[in-house]
Amino acid sequence: MSFFGELYLRSTQPFLSADITAREIAYLQRCFTGLSLPGPVADLGCGHGRHAAPLNGSGPLKGRVVGLELDAYSLAHRLPGFPAIRGDLRALPFQSGSLAGAYAWYSTLFAFSETEHRVILREIARCLRPGALLVFQSVPYERLSEHPGAAFQRTLPDGSVLQEESRFDPDTGMDHGRRRLTLPDGRVLSGVYTIRYYPLAELTQLLEATGLTTRWVHGGLDGEPLCSTSTDLIVGAELRHG
Ligand SMILES: C[S@@+](CC[C@H](N)C(=O)[O-])C[C@H]1O[C@@H](n2cnc3c(N)ncnc32)[C@H](O)[C@@H]1O
Repeated sequence: MSFFGELYLRSTQPFLSADITAREIAYLQRCFTGLSLPGPVADLGCGHGRHAAPLNGSGPLKGRVVGLELDAYSLAHRLPGFPAIRGDLRALPFQSGSLAGAYAWYSTLFAFSETEHRVILREIARCLRPGALLVFQSVPYERLSEHPGAAFQRTLPDGSVLQEESRFDPDTGMDHGRRRLTLPDGRVLSGVYTIRYYPLAELTQLLEATGLTTRWVHGGLDGEPLCSTSTDLIVGAELRHG
């Protein structure tokens, strides 16, 4: 976990505006309004809880959110107001059929190998109650294909210098990135990541193969359809009965 943890939190938080997070929370609240199944709703890879804390505090998921996170630093620095479990997406620490729902933001489910993506989706399917919803966000494959390379350097508000470069390979759907953060005291945090961006048809097949049926696909937080200019790929999928 060299990429997630302190490097990820310090370098990502300055770019996550309160407005974006509030819109993501409102989107998730709409998804889970009228939830009739009993049990908790898991925030998979909850990080420091920017969704889990407010969702657990009020609205349709009040008192029902549990965070799942592997990184100890993120858990130690999390926002107050929600319970969290330290565990691995690839071997979820929930009983079979116990979750009323789950969500995962920021391509969290796809920062692994293809084999592991299957394992993770099967694990989620195992833990959900029949009819329960999984909502997740990623970025459309087409968007990466159009902008396959990125490199930038920026000074963050605390004076840290962030350097990042990434390259997307359309043949494999893999985006390989490298991030380096030089803190004001000279300490350097660095790490690499790989994220798989699936074309929608492949993603739908993957979900089907793991017991989940796609209920909706949105291209943004207002529930707009996915189109060639969409910046988000948000999927709502349901665990099939039987
Ligand atoms: C892209 S971040 C998203 C964090 C949070 N959901 C958000 O939107 O701010 C992915 C999160 O998943 C966590 N993570 C990575 N691998 C994991 C694993 N195998 N099991 C559980 N959590 C993991 C990371 O530590 C990180 O907090």
